[in-house]
This record gives sequence, C-alpha cells and structure tokens, in this order.
Amino acid sequence: MKQYSSFANILQCLCFGMMLALYIGCSQQQPRYTIGISQCSEDIWRYKQNAEFRMGAYLQNNVELRFAVAHDSDERQVQQIDSLLRIGIDLLIVAPNQLQTISPAIDRAYDSGIPVIVFERKTSSQKFTAFISADNYEMGRVMGEYIISQLNGKGNVLVVKGLEGSSPAIERHKGFLDVVKQAPDIKVLASLQGDWTEKTAYESTKKWLAKNKDIPVDFVFGLNDRTAIGARKAFLSVQSAPLKTKFCGIDGLPGKNGGISLVLDGILDASYLYPTNGDLLIDEAVRILEKQPYEKEIRLMSALVTRDNAKVLLMQNDAMERQANYLDRLHARADNYLHELDGQRVINWLALGIIILLLIVFVLFYLYYLRKITLQRERVVSTLWNMETKEAEPQATSSIMPADEGTNPTMEDDLTEKEIAEAATMQGDGTSMFITRFREVVETRLEDSDLSVDDLAADMSLSRVQLYRKVKAVTGSSPVELLRTARLARAYQLLLTSDKTVSEVAYAVGFTAPSYFTKCFKEEYGMVPGNVRKTEE
Ligand code: FRU
Repeated sequence: MKQYSSFANILQCLCFGMMLALYIGCSQQQPRYTIGISQCSEDIWRYKQNAEFRMGAYLQNNVELRFAVAHDSDERQVQQIDSLLRIGIDLLIVAPNQLQTISPAIDRAYDSGIPVIVFERKTSSQKFTAFISADNYEMGRVMGEYIISQLNGKGNVLVVKGLEGSSPAIERHKGFLDVVKQAPDIKVLASLQGDWTEKTAYESTKKWLAKNKDIPVDFVFGLNDRTAIGARKAFLSVQSAPLKTKFCGIDGLPGKNGGISLVLDGILDASYLYPTNGDLLIDEAVRILEKQPYEKEIRLMSALVTRDNAKVLLMQNDAMERQANYLDRLHARADNYLHELDGQRVINWLALGIIILLLIVFVLFYLYYLRKITLQRERVVSTLWNMETKEAEPQATSSIMPADEGTNPTMEDDLTEKEIAEAATMQGDGTSMFITRFREVVETRLEDSDLSVDDLAADMSLSRVQLYRKVKAVTGSSPVELLRTARLARAYQLLLTSDKTVSEVAYAVGFTAPSYFTKCFKEEYGMVPGNVRKTEE
C-alpha cells in the first residue's frame, strides 16, 4: 500500500510538473498596456478613427484596447470612464461629449495617476497629459473665408451648429463669425442649434424654413458634414431640386457617403478634412506609457475640400486604404501563423510530456516489478532452505532468518498464502528434495574456504552447469550466492550460540578474511557481526 501511495504521489508530482511546463511553454506574451478609449459618439467619423486605433494597437503589439461609446450622453460617458478606471486601464484616451460635463470624470482619471490623452474635443480642466486635435477655430475661419469668396462678399448665410457644449462646435462657430464679421455684406441669417446629427439638423432647419419661407439663403454652413446634409434634406423637403442654396460642412471623410464624395458629386460645395488619426493617438499613448519624450499638444493638419481637390484626395485615400488593407491581411496572416505555431507548440510539449511520463512510469513499474520478484524469490528460497532447519533447530532458525528490510518477523508470518503455496508446490515436484540435498551438501562443507561450485556439483552428482541451472531456476540465485547466504546464516547462528570471536566465526564459516566477512555480514543483515550479541541481549 505504502509503495503504491508513494508511487501515486510521484505520478501526481510529475503530472503537476508537466502541466506547469506546458503552461510556461504555451503561455503567450500578454499585452502589457490596457488603453481605455472613451468615445462620445458613434458615427462614420468615429468608425474610421476606431479602425485606426486598432491598427495602431496591432502595430504596437503590446497594447490592448477597451472601447466605451457614450452615444452622445454625458451621463453615460462619465459612468463609462469610471468603470474603465475600475477595471484598471493604464491610460485613458477620451473625446469628451461636452466641455464641462465630462471634466469631473476626466479629472478623476488623471488624479488616479494614469495618463490621460484628450482628443479632438476639449475638457474644461487642465488635468490631462496630452491634447491632440486639429484646429477647430481655424476650420471655422477658413470656411468663412471660403463662403465669402464664393459669394463675392455678398449674400445670406445660415449656420447649423453642433452640440452646444462641445468645444469644436463653439470654436468652429467662433472662427466663422470672426471672419464674416469683417464682410459687411454677408448676413448670417441665423445660427441654428444642432447636435452633430443629421436628424437634429434636419428638424431645426425645417422649422426655420417654415418661419422664413421668403428669405433667400445663399449658403448653409453645417458645422459638420452630417449637419450640412440634414439641412440640405430640409431644404429639399420644401423646395425642388436643383437647389439654389449651396451647402458646406466639415469632416471631409473618404468613402461612399463621406464628405469628399459628396463634394465630388456636387451635393456639398465644400468640406474640411477633420483628421481622425487613431494610429497616431496610440503611438502617442505608448510613448507616454513608456516614458519616452512626447508632445503635450499635437495639432493635426487639415485642409479644405473643394471640387478642385476632391478627386485627388479620394485617390490618395484609396491608395492609403489599400495599404491599410494589406497591412490588415498581413497581420491576420501573421496572427494565423502564430496561432498555428502556438497549437504546434502545445502539441510538442504535450507529446514530450507524455513520452517522459510514459518513460518514468515504465521505469518505475520495472523497478517495482524487479523488487517484487526479488522479494518473492528470496522468500520462497528462504522457505525451502530453512524448512528442515526449522524442524531440527526451531529457535536457531527463527533467529537466523535474514531480516526483510530491517524487520525480523518469523517467516511464516511474513509469507503470503500464495507464496507458501508456491513453496509447497515446489516441494511437491521434487524441488524441495533437491534444495534439501543441496543445503546438506553446502552445510557439511561450510568451513571449507576452498569450497568451489565444482565441488558442490560433484557432491550433488551433477555437472557444474547442471547445478547452476537447476539452482538458478529454483531459487533465482546462483550456487555461489546461496553458499554465501548459508555461510552468513551459520555465522549468525554461531555468534548467538557460541563464545567464538568474530574472527573465529568468520574462519569457521569458510571466510579467509574477517574484514571481508564483516562487510558481507553487514550487507546481508544490515549490522556488523559484533552487534548480533548486543541485539539479542
Ligand atoms: C464625430 C463628430 C464629427 C465632428 C466632430 C466634432 O463624432 O460629430 O462629425 O466633426 O465629432 O467633435
């Protein structure tokens, strides 16, 4: 039992070790930075930017992104920032829905010790690590100049603003007003409230049109393209195409419904590139996280989109998108390879583990088997060898029994029924007689230190080889080994029953050197001969 349980323990340890090795072998490189991205809205401009964020993270390879989208709700954005902080992000990138309302949450993030990058829309506090945006005031100003020039300095302009408290809405509007103020014949009919969505722009424009049917409008400036489109739809709902009014917005997105195509198709007269640059934001984030030099404020380049440059811009963008797609595909392919490699690595480790485990199990079983066989043989031989002695000298026999692993129980006690039956079977077929005879021959000549296997064979009327084979087959030991066992057993007996010194005993049982006798005795009984008497006392 004891043997089995320690065997099971070894196996358990091995399995544990293997699993640990597997875990270490297979564990992938974990992302080192978690970047939380709090987006105020969800629309085509932000889709493009989110894709760029992902691309930037791909290229960094040690970054994990956590997105949160507030769908234009201040409350939701505040909650989302707080929960991003709770999950333990390393850096926050945030586009605050409005200037004032999100600031407390951004301050909390900054105060918690993580870097904060504010992008595109401003916060009312100074608690941020970096700010990245294009110049919204400049956009409004340039759009104002464009409209003035298109109208040759004379005409009516309607403005549809963005979300009231968001910084781009405020700055774009101010830039525009500052410039048109200087054009006395440009009349700003109204600045309608929008919220960056097409729907709100449509509704507020429609309301205004209902009240101002007869006022001619030469230009509508929507503070983003979606707003401009909403306003245009409102005009189309009350006037038939082609409209005399011109429309312009800001964002200048590429793609099917983006501002550039709308300009190219003549739906918008102009737009303004409002750069998304998500990849650049991730670069800046990693620079900050890795304590490299970074810029506290990055101004992104932007430009006016008109019919003159829309085509070129689209072509450039197509080329860039193609490159990005290649990169995406390459990344996906590399990811695939890495996965395959990981799978392969797991299989290799598993196979190696299984082979090692099998080898160890095999070796352990083999050792266990050898030990079992040896023990069994020893017991059977002892049974047969000592059977006669037991009858003749009951006390001496029990005391000369070799100790089995340090204990010294009587042999009958120690043998299993199976082993005794085995011994009995051997007796039945004449083996017992052979052993008894062999024991007699050995014992009568024990003192003879020159006694050889040839002598024993001659006494048994067998050839040397016959004797060896028979003894080996029956006992598993060679005649020489048995002779030595018998010599030592007799020595043990003499030590107990006579006053002879250890050297005298050694000579009496056929050893020529007492020191060699002591060595053999110790091997057999686990103690030096001198200790036999002490133990018995
Ligand atoms: C995208 C957007 C853009 C606009 C910007 C202003 O969410 O509405 O259309 O230019 O945000 O912050």
